[in-house]
Amino acid sequence: MNRGSWKRPHFYYEVNIIKFSDITAPVEKDLKKVDFIINSALVSNFKIINEISSYVFESGGKKIRPALLLLSCALFKKPGVKTVKMAAGAEIIHNATLVHDDIIDNALIRRSKESLNNKYGNTIAVLFGDFLYCQAFKILSEYGEEFVARNFLVAAGAMCEGEIFQSAHVYDPDISLKDYYRIIESKTAKFLAACSSIGAYCGGASKTDIENMRKFGLNLGMAFQIADDVLDISSSDKIIGKPSGKDLREGKITLPVIILLEKMGKSSVNKIKDKIRNKSGLDQNFIEDIICLSKKNHIIEESLEVAMNYVKKSFLYLKKTSPENHIKDKLRLFAEFMALRQK
Ligand code: IPE
Ligand code: IPE
Ligand code: MG
Ligand code: MG
Repeated sequence: MNRGSWKRPHFYYEVNIIKFSDITAPVEKDLKKVDFIINSALVSNFKIINEISSYVFESGGKKIRPALLLLSCALFKKPGVKTVKMAAGAEIIHNATLVHDDIIDNALIRRSKESLNNKYGNTIAVLFGDFLYCQAFKILSEYGEEFVARNFLVAAGAMCEGEIFQSAHVYDPDISLKDYYRIIESKTAKFLAACSSIGAYCGGASKTDIENMRKFGLNLGMAFQIADDVLDISSSDKIIGKPSGKDLREGKITLPVIILLEKMGKSSVNKIKDKIRNKSGLDQNFIEDIICLSKKNHIIEESLEVAMNYVKKSFLYLKKTSPENHIKDKLRLFAEFMALRQK
């Protein structure tokens, strides 16, 4: 089926020329060490656990959180062993949230292969997610750093709050823009804010700079989740490694749909809202129609502009930090990449 086309905003091209690996090049060696620490931290006497760990971590993922933590440290000081361990902890926590998120969403595919719940069932997936949280906090407690543990715990708690609030609003087409922003701030942006502030802390930054870096991460985190919600509509299963259009199927009303509903005429809006409320109307044809309408009405571009505004806001906080070096340029690109990435 022809899903229609959409015009990429002019700023889209410039950033997409840059590869994510170029942005993270200064911490490339540390990211390799992160992989090694993760593997060591998950070794178990039970063969089944080792099998599951390999299944989850072999598929990789973009490693956005450890990269942000390491670059945020590098802005102030070269990352040492401690920082690398904190970055590994962040990636393990992230994977725990994905394992649990897929159970909640009943998702069948993650990173282009069967989700853990699909392959091993919900019981094992719940427990493996818990295992990951435990192993992450074991690493994080090694150095007795209260700041690090507290910030990750606060972010993990916020993530639960966001997911619970979101679950209470599925199939609710009247969800406000304000509530949408509250959800994505809690479930996604606060964790990225924790990564950037913990990175700065590990780099020995001043209290003021740690707070600037927190706000930098919070704003780029908002852009990151908006991009995820846009890609769900604008991209394909093959590229994002998860079924496109799944947000609406799961009853999640995201920014593109909220903007679309604001733009449509009253009778179309009522029809769409009724279908969403009724759940049963959310078949593949309906999803395809919404995707087409979004493309026709320039909703993708508008949503990406909102994401870019968060990126611009993140720049203001990055600019306020005291160091002036090449890592700052990389962090600026990192933030842009959050909004304009293609997967
Ligand atoms: C997916 O995160 C979950 C969201 C917060 C949108 P990522 O897109 O960073 O997932 P991986 O680790 O790269 O697969
Ligand atoms: C992010 O939301 C989930 C977490 C913060 C764990 P999504 O539900 O949009 O993530 P995907 O699209 O399934 O990766
Ligand atoms: Mg999900
Ligand atoms: Mg998503």
